Amino acid sequence: MTRMHSPLTLPTQLASSAPAGAEALGWGVLEGLETARPGLDVDVAWCERRRFKAKPGDSLVAPGKGGRVDVLLGFGPRGRLDTAALRKAGAAFAAATGGAETAALDLTGVSELGVGAGQATQVAIEGFWGARYRYTRYHAGDPDPIESLTIVVGPGEVPSAERGLERGRVIADATRLARDLSNEPAGALTPAQLAEVAVEIAERGGLEVTILDEKAIAQAGLGGLLGVAAGSAQAPRLIKLVYEPSADQARKRPDGSLPTVALVGKGITFDSGGLSLKTPENMLTMKTDMSGAADVLATMGACRALGVGVRVIGFAPTTENMPGGRATKPGDVLKIRNGKTIEVVNTDCEGRLVLADGLSLAAEEEPDAIVDLATLTGACVVALGQRIAGLMGNDDRLIAALKAASERAGEATWPLPLAEVYRADIDSEVADMKNQGKRAAGTLTAALLLQEFVADRPWAHLDIAGPSHSDEDSGEFRKGATGFGVRTLLEFLGSYEPLNSPAAGAAGGKVVA
Ligand code: BES
Ligand code: MN
Ligand code: ZN
Repeated sequence: MTRMHSPLTLPTQLASSAPAGAEALGWGVLEGLETARPGLDVDVAWCERRRFKAKPGDSLVAPGKGGRVDVLLGFGPRGRLDTAALRKAGAAFAAATGGAETAALDLTGVSELGVGAGQATQVAIEGFWGARYRYTRYHAGDPDPIESLTIVVGPGEVPSAERGLERGRVIADATRLARDLSNEPAGALTPAQLAEVAVEIAERGGLEVTILDEKAIAQAGLGGLLGVAAGSAQAPRLIKLVYEPSADQARKRPDGSLPTVALVGKGITFDSGGLSLKTPENMLTMKTDMSGAADVLATMGACRALGVGVRVIGFAPTTENMPGGRATKPGDVLKIRNGKTIEVVNTDCEGRLVLADGLSLAAEEEPDAIVDLATLTGACVVALGQRIAGLMGNDDRLIAALKAASERAGEATWPLPLAEVYRADIDSEVADMKNQGKRAAGTLTAALLLQEFVADRPWAHLDIAGPSHSDEDSGEFRKGATGFGVRTLLEFLGSYEPLNSPAAGAAGGKVVA
């Protein structure tokens, strides 16, 4: 595959004792410098001299036997080990063993510390391969530095760890794919090329795929997507993927129907701002403005391997936003797929225009839930910073389910209000609405515009403008695109409970102002 250059399955195995040849061996240490792995001792005085406290994310490299490197990994206080700490331990191990070709992480006995061996294996793999990620495509002679990881568990823990191994590998792979796509320069990943990748993902992942080209987009009345694409020499695409669970995996309702979740991802392969041109500094990271689409594609590619039990329909409207001679001008009015019109007062508010079409198409499928992901507003970065996504929507139970999934997945989200009081900010004199409100509450008015296109279906919106990109290496994130959102979506889909069934989780707190 041309653009998916990371190995499809990261070399990861399971063993019930550390392989003799491992160049690096990692194991857990609890606060108080008590070993978490019976049989592997901690030299307490040696650790204390190096100020190793065994907090989650801490690591200490010690000389091991026979040239092997031993890495002590902080597991935090006894009784409080959780998946977040184990994901951090996996990432810290990867950072500490940079040069080792064979690394073994010993989690023997982890189930006695309160986290099942399957979950522990899964999240340690997510952390390890997340931190080991490099975007090396354009480094001459620098191959992707992939080595191998062995997770060691006790003999009795092997059966449950096996499931975790498979899940961890698939999730780590999907996250890396999303990062690769977002990191790819806009000159090398045009809308047409992103659509080609979607076709390859569909072939590998057993998905149905439909691509609309420019002519078909016009015929379908996707006026938002066309309007944003007007100023670009590259033609837009509308990507649609459908995942249908196999009969043995389908989690049907008692009446025999299958729940359906629709995903929509913003796919701006480059956001120059259009005629409302960005500054050079603000433009610099805008090749990642298709991170929402990358998340949707990568997530859907993993559904079959993870045995997701619901139908998933994904939409990724994709185009560049450029200031060419035919570009949409401030004051122009666009007609969206669902018939509503939008006055374009700022061509840099382009994400909501393409999402309006994507959400309209999603709503037509009459799904049980719609979730969109978009690098939508700089205002969300101001509000929540680079590590937390904004979470909005019209359905408290769906918002609560996504919030819970993101917590389990180790990706931080925080609810923001879909405050009707600001709806008047996007009233237009000439159209049903305008595409920019006031500077204040810019994240909320963007979400209020999106709401106009979901036809009152349960809907949640993740503004990932902050966490889609990282300025530093930190934990399982690397500098550059993070793939943030893939883990949350896979966790959400894997545990999906239809909102209209009594089994659905309790309603979240009311967040509407
Ligand atoms: N893609 C940007 C949002 C963005 C900003 C993503 C920073 C990641 C980091 C979006 O299309 C945009 O340009 N939004 C503008 C809207 C403004 C003109 C009202 C913004 O947030 O600056
Ligand atoms: Mn923009
Ligand atoms: Zn944008």
